[in-house]
Amino acid sequence: MQVVIADGPEEVGRIAAAKLAQAVRRRPGAVLGLATGSSPLAIYRELAVGRREGRLDFSAVRAFALDEYVGLPLEHPQSYHSVIRREVVLPLGMDPALVHVPDGSAEDLPGACAAYERLIREAGGIDVQILGIGRNGHIGFNEPTSSFASRTRIKTLAPRTRADNARFFDSPEEVPTHCLTQGLATILEARQLVLVAQGEAKADAVARMVEGPLTSMCPGSALQLHPDATVVVDEAAASRLELADYYRYTFEHLPSWQRYDGADG
Ligand code: GLP
Repeated sequence: MQVVIADGPEEVGRIAAAKLAQAVRRRPGAVLGLATGSSPLAIYRELAVGRREGRLDFSAVRAFALDEYVGLPLEHPQSYHSVIRREVVLPLGMDPALVHVPDGSAEDLPGACAAYERLIREAGGIDVQILGIGRNGHIGFNEPTSSFASRTRIKTLAPRTRADNARFFDSPEEVPTHCLTQGLATILEARQLVLVAQGEAKADAVARMVEGPLTSMCPGSALQLHPDATVVVDEAAASRLELADYYRYTFEHLPSWQRYDGADG
């Protein structure tokens, strides 16, 4: 796992965006894994600048969202279908037909989950998966005790996650109780993982994910099993990392073949 400690929240987005830009430049039809929540917004902003300035073209890029609420109508402003369209598809100029979100309004939810897994396989798998992390260590909506072997499925949201996400809704009761999420095994199959976290509130989850034991009590610790995972955090989110100085030293001494110096990359 590579841990990068950035100067601030915007710098987190810039560094992570460079990884994605690299993948899209290498392969214009790259398959991206998209995350919602506040953490990746700086990435999308940075990529949108690259697109506006003509350095990046997302028109052939395919994408799969990590998760979706169950029971919110597609057009609800907080459905991940709407969020992905607003925050990613439109600003990056992606083709909506190439961007998939699990169907949380399907009558047959297990069927929708199986179909989602099939679509990812048929696309050849995900090249780069973007991730955030919840305060309780969840990735996607894989709450604590999620199996490392899990695939896309229905989950019950932890009360803490519902409380954290209440800020996006008019009242806490409006936050759905269930969701569909890619499983931990689904996420681990992506060729590259890029997780971003900013702020003191994430410091504990980040420390448990990076330096704690491999445990389903911290689903983010599954990243320890991945051969190409990068964790980009700001100083506040890194504040409980025991080996912070080592990560800084490592980043300063990256060999040239491992460098990615910005979205121009
Ligand atoms: C959300 C999403 C996750 C996200 C996490 C953290 O509920 N399902 O994909 O990474 O919780 O959210 P935020 O980035 O807003 O802190």
